[in-house]
Amino acid sequence: MKITVIGTGYVGLVSGTCLADVGNDVLCLDVDANKIRILNEGGIPIYEPGLEAMVKKNEAAGRLRFTTDIEAAVAHGAIQFIAVGTPPDEDGSADLQYVLAAARNVGRHMTDYKVVVDKSTVPVGTADKVRAAIAEELAQRGVDTPYSVVSNPEFLKEGAAVEDFMKPDRIVVGAEDPRAIDLMRELYAPFQRNHERLIMMDVRSAELTKYAANAMLATRISFMNELANLAEKLGADIEHVRHGMGSDPRIGYHFLYPGCGYGGSCFPKDVQALERTAREAGQELKILAAVEAANEVQKHVLTGKIVQHFGADLSGRTFALWGLAFKPNTDDMREAPSRALIGDLLARGARVRAYDPVAIHEAQRIFEGEAGVEFAASPMDALADADALAIVTEWKEFRSPDFDAIKSQLRHPVIFDGRNLYDPAHPRRAGLEYFPIGRK
Ligand code: NAI
Repeated sequence: MKITVIGTGYVGLVSGTCLADVGNDVLCLDVDANKIRILNEGGIPIYEPGLEAMVKKNEAAGRLRFTTDIEAAVAHGAIQFIAVGTPPDEDGSADLQYVLAAARNVGRHMTDYKVVVDKSTVPVGTADKVRAAIAEELAQRGVDTPYSVVSNPEFLKEGAAVEDFMKPDRIVVGAEDPRAIDLMRELYAPFQRNHERLIMMDVRSAELTKYAANAMLATRISFMNELANLAEKLGADIEHVRHGMGSDPRIGYHFLYPGCGYGGSCFPKDVQALERTAREAGQELKILAAVEAANEVQKHVLTGKIVQHFGADLSGRTFALWGLAFKPNTDDMREAPSRALIGDLLARGARVRAYDPVAIHEAQRIFEGEAGVEFAASPMDALADADALAIVTEWKEFRSPDFDAIKSQLRHPVIFDGRNLYDPAHPRRAGLEYFPIGRK
């Protein structure tokens, strides 16, 4: 099948590459000429495990190409995926300007039947807006080319995106027109594996499903974070509580980890956007308002522990930071809890020496010109001359450190662990003070 992917970011590049990998002829479009240049020169603009090799393989096979030429991109695919960003507007609602600009481009240039697929996370009712935007463009041209609009929200996780796309738990498709339904079934047939993964539904339900899933996951995190803070006050250990809760199959172990807050490009904005959608429909989502408020508190939980230990004035102190990305296996720092902690530490006069296996280039861009932040080439290098260590991202390489070496490097032997990476006995045995989240 001929497929166009509009927007070659995390979702667009992964989706386009995986669709090419099963034999489709894919053309990826982006307005960011720099991104397309990098891809056309054999590079890759983001870090995602396994993606680079897959891009190269499919490019070499002639099934995957990248362009900034809108007209050529619209002409190419019978299926046009819209995978552009939907950042939050000032009021928390999803900003649809990029989605609608992409839709207009399709309407402006299409000359034969197209299935236009909303893959971006978009509020309920967006498919209607996309349909209207295309209709307006066609009317301006005085043509009546047929098209369908489909909702196909993406559930891939950054850090495991290729695996998630190739072996999905589910593929949600909201489509109401038989011609589009047939095409979507054919497109996703190679991804069904041992049982049917395709869940067909109406367009509005598909749009809501994506927000519902992300909001549920964010709720679990904030719930566990509040419980962890309570466990600390009560002298209980959240790790035991987590085991005890998770063993109930109705609850399950997944996504039950307390920490220093959720971040990333999806949960914060999707929780806000769903709240906004509800408000517009005349309903308050009280739970989600609490989820968001709890997360704001939690992003500063390590600051609180640091201040309790060192006092409010941190001037002259340096903190080593392990982890900048909002989660492991990605270089994405959008809404990352590390940013909240770094901001707090700088505001209190401290300096930060940070290490991350892949996000340093992104952090350098974000903190450019910020004198108080420097970057280290290794976890141990980050500790040099630091007063204490704070752990913000649960990268695998942080899980079994040499605690004796950490102790010998730090001016004060203290670890503030925002991800509960260690059995508290281990750092303590090495003579380190250890402050995890919600543990004794
Ligand atoms: P991104 O910011 O990495 O990529 C979006 C790309 O679209 C950018 O490269 C931008 O230059 C391009 N673009 C903007 N307007 C365009 C236009 N008119 N024509 C062509 N290209 C255009 O965003 P990301 O993370 O890929 O997210 C895209 C959508 O997918 C968002 O709605 C997001 O909520 C959703 N999503 C993201 C996931 C993630 O893990 N990043 C997971 C699931 C859904």
